[in-house]
Amino acid sequence: SPVKNLQGLRITITAGPTREAIDPVRYISNHSSGKMGFALAQAAAAMGAKVTLISGPVQLATPAGVTRIDVQSAEQMHQAALSAAVQSDIFIGCAAVADYRVAEIAADKLKKGAEAEMQLTLVKNPDIIAAVAALPQQRPFTVGFAAETRNVLEYARQKLLNKRLDMICANDVSASDRGFNSDDNALSVIWRGGELDLPKAPKQQLATQLITLISEHYKN
Ligand code: PMT
Repeated sequence: SPVKNLQGLRITITAGPTREAIDPVRYISNHSSGKMGFALAQAAAAMGAKVTLISGPVQLATPAGVTRIDVQSAEQMHQAALSAAVQSDIFIGCAAVADYRVAEIAADKLKKGAEAEMQLTLVKNPDIIAAVAALPQQRPFTVGFAAETRNVLEYARQKLLNKRLDMICANDVSASDRGFNSDDNALSVIWRGGELDLPKAPKQQLATQLITLISEHYKN
């Protein structure tokens, strides 16, 4: 059985997509399955950590020993994440949070009009991980992901600095054999002063490697 060297460590992980309602029957979302975030939760719990998993709508079972909080929208995830973050040693933002939501959710199903075009006004969602990293007190060691289809490392480094994170996992999502809704992934983990490539592997295997790496950096 695995060594339980994360005993006593409190880790909060976000996973899955968010769902931004347009009207009672429609929404804006993305292809995140939650597999990567759930694999991280499973790995951290297996190593003895106390894990809170904040999940958008996914079709996955809760890993053993993990406390799960289900949310739908980015605003709901924001609220749940900040409450959990101030009671955590480590926060990992693996969720694919919608950057924008519909300005006004229609109370009734929108009807098809005569016009060939229709417009939705979108407004920016709160940046959850930036808010966690900006906590004045009880700020956890904060690890983000960066899902990119081009300039992957450059954009990830920008997100590390702009969001004031401690680490970021650059995730090239341009290929279909990794990233969104695949069983495998590959990551380049970047921090101030270092970088480590985790080559393509099953998400569960990568998760164990990543949790080990994060906990080593947290302790230093
Ligand atoms: O769920 P899977 O199918 O297993 O796929 C895994 C994954 C590809 C979704 C995952 O590995 C991944 O890359 N997650 C981050 C997806 C994402 O939205 O990245 P981003 O580059 O848009 O966001 C950067 C960081 O800011 C992320 O840590 C994100 O959680 C966070 N963020 C983004 C927007 C926002 N409003 N609030 C946030 O906290």
